[in-house]
Amino acid sequence: MSLKGKKIIVGITGSIAAYKMAITVRLMVKAGAEVKVIMTDAATRFITPLTLSTLSKSPVLSALSEDAQWSNHVELGLWADAFLIAPASANSLSKLANGACDNLLTAVYLSARCPVFVAPAMDVDMWHHPSTQRNIQTLQNDKVRIIPVGKGELASGLSGEGRMAEPEELLQYLANYFTKGPLHGKRVLINAGPTQEAIDPVRYISNHSTGKMGIALAEAAASMGAKVSLVLGPTSQQVKTNAIELVRVQSASEMYAVMMKQYTKADLIICSAAVADYTLKQVASQKIKKTDSLGIALVKTKDILAELGKKISRKQYLVGFALETNDEEHYAKDKLKRKNANLIILNSLQDPQAGFGHDTNAVTLFEKSGETKKLALKTKVEIAEEILQYISTKMKK
Ligand code: CTP
Repeated sequence: MSLKGKKIIVGITGSIAAYKMAITVRLMVKAGAEVKVIMTDAATRFITPLTLSTLSKSPVLSALSEDAQWSNHVELGLWADAFLIAPASANSLSKLANGACDNLLTAVYLSARCPVFVAPAMDVDMWHHPSTQRNIQTLQNDKVRIIPVGKGELASGLSGEGRMAEPEELLQYLANYFTKGPLHGKRVLINAGPTQEAIDPVRYISNHSTGKMGIALAEAAASMGAKVSLVLGPTSQQVKTNAIELVRVQSASEMYAVMMKQYTKADLIICSAAVADYTLKQVASQKIKKTDSLGIALVKTKDILAELGKKISRKQYLVGFALETNDEEHYAKDKLKRKNANLIILNSLQDPQAGFGHDTNAVTLFEKSGETKKLALKTKVEIAEEILQYISTKMKK
């Protein structure tokens, strides 16, 4: 991982995770970056400026003015190629989201023209509080890149979401930004999640898909340099980066319409959505009253993947998913041919930790060339990265 010649400001705020910044700054310098550290007063109670000035080989900045000398926050903001604020406490997040400017760190944030990366760190309840989530949303709208929090043991003794990303992950985010990833310049269109087919104004038919795998693919593609559009069915899962164009849809026909409109612009199309296979022949305009039994007529939805298989050009790469319970390989290969895809990703239902709703998955890839590749049980994020690495080697340059 190289950050050679990159000028990076590291902003540290008051959180116990500040201790991780000694290692982070050390790794950045080792990776070739020129680092300047800004600390809030609260941060200096968790880790000493002496540690960070020694590791960054540059004096730590913390006040807007010192010894009658003004620290030029505008100059600092212009100097940097990237600004990493880590850890970002709940209090500092709130200031950043609202444009408060009562210390050097927030002043530099307002003056920075470079991309800003924010790695939040706080207790699980503070993280889930609606006000924190609102601030995160505001920062994302302001084009700040939020580095996702981890799950695990927290300093409070509680366990859950709120842990700051590890030093290596922080570096990876910066390195991904600076280096051209394997999907640099590619446009990727992904659909994900379930669809809901209305029965009447209050009821619908759907399935157990959460969209986790498709969201992980979209996020991984963005971090590999692609311009990503995600067409997402109804799910409570959050998309953690604002680097993705998100289109929300409800039904199979809405998803079909958006995919047909967008596919011509894409180099890579991934159909990971669990599109309902059937929809109502006729949706009741009023709530259907209860009777002893109810018969509803269903009609087949349009197969988005198969339709795209008929339409795509030879330069485009089309990927579908298969979920089978028996004769997996046979059906996956059959799907590859029948839907004219370049790749079918077979979800293994053999593993209890794979598939719907889980954070992990195990898949087998079936490529048009006849090649197959098995990816063992890993987190959906890791699987997404491996799948996209594989696809990037198969796509036309
Ligand atoms: N798919 C789609 N549109 C549909 C149904 C499915 O685009 N209306 C896509 C899914 O996104 C997935 C692939 O088709 O990429 C596999 O879906 P699946 O339902 O397993 O395949 P089918 O061929 O529809 O079903 P079967 O196994 O019954 O043949």
